[in-house]
Amino acid sequence: MPVIARFLTPDDLDKALRQDVIEGLTATPKTLPPKWFYDERGSELFEEITRLDEYYPTRRERAILVERAAEIAALTGADTLLELGAGSGEKTRLLLEALAPMRYIPVDVSGDFLAAAAEQIARDHEGLAVHAVVADYERHLDLLPTSGRRLIAFLGGTVGNMVPAERISFLSGLRATMSQGDALLLGADLVKDPGRLVRAYDDARGVTAEFNLNVLRVINGRLDADFDVTGFEHVALWDAEQEWIEMRLRSAVDQTVRIGALDLEVSFAAGEELRTEISAKFRRSRLEAELTAAGLVLDHFWTDRDGDFSLSLARPGQATPSSSV
Ligand code: SAH
Ligand code: AVI
Repeated sequence: MPVIARFLTPDDLDKALRQDVIEGLTATPKTLPPKWFYDERGSELFEEITRLDEYYPTRRERAILVERAAEIAALTGADTLLELGAGSGEKTRLLLEALAPMRYIPVDVSGDFLAAAAEQIARDHEGLAVHAVVADYERHLDLLPTSGRRLIAFLGGTVGNMVPAERISFLSGLRATMSQGDALLLGADLVKDPGRLVRAYDDARGVTAEFNLNVLRVINGRLDADFDVTGFEHVALWDAEQEWIEMRLRSAVDQTVRIGALDLEVSFAAGEELRTEISAKFRRSRLEAELTAAGLVLDHFWTDRDGDFSLSLARPGQATPSSSV
């Protein structure tokens, strides 16, 4: 059975959510960080998204892993697979089979979903030590286990859910925890036809809309708020300048929401939009530049046959991040 470490207790989560809601909903324009989509229902909705016809990233990343997992294992020789934002770890099974590591350390903010996924993986891999960690990879990188020769996987394109400044600080922070011999396997979605991109984030069955609205349900449940989710519409648009998809929730009417636990009232004008997520799409040059700025060296760059999605293998450079920028 897996060992589960909790760096995020329900109390920590509560405090962090309170702070993000106060900051984000009193700002202009209003924003919320995407990590709050992921309570158990949000994690399940994300799994449903990965099976949608329109949502190509998961299938494309899986195709790269099918083709490259053995090569990745040979190149890294890792005995420990640490996975950030692991979710269900479905695609990770390909890496586990190729690497046959001693330890698998999935890290995720969605604690109950992570615990169930870790149990399933432990059941399916006899002899594999599974040490699940409930943590926020933007705050707790320093606390993650550093022993062994680690392959750190960050899959799914989740790095694109951070704005550029957050990505740089996240990648530099991660680099600072890495020893020579460790490697980073980074999944990133690539720039492509905007029509396809928007369809991937605005599917015909409305699963992504439910996922987006779930953040309001999370705030209702955890902070005693009275968001009427039928009063908000899902919006997905392509920002050609920033090269990212932006998900928003648009208020259909003038309305005031009360957030009981914060003793806060927040007004939305009809048509006002709340930004809930960006999903950046990359070119190889940008990925390489960001890795370099963080003190990492891009070693291998693979894409699927259609060039839709990428996996980068990077290693710590010789210089420290501060002296290399
Ligand atoms: N890696 C999986 C899941 C991607 S969904 C895949 O490729 O399919 C993004 C995952 O990251 C979710 O499981 C979510 O709970 C987790 N997550 C989002 N923000 C996080 C944060 N700040 N810290 C830890 N996990 C986070
Ligand atoms: C987790 N992350 C990479 C997903 C993405 O594609 O940005 C989250 C998601 N948002 C809407 N659909 C999926």
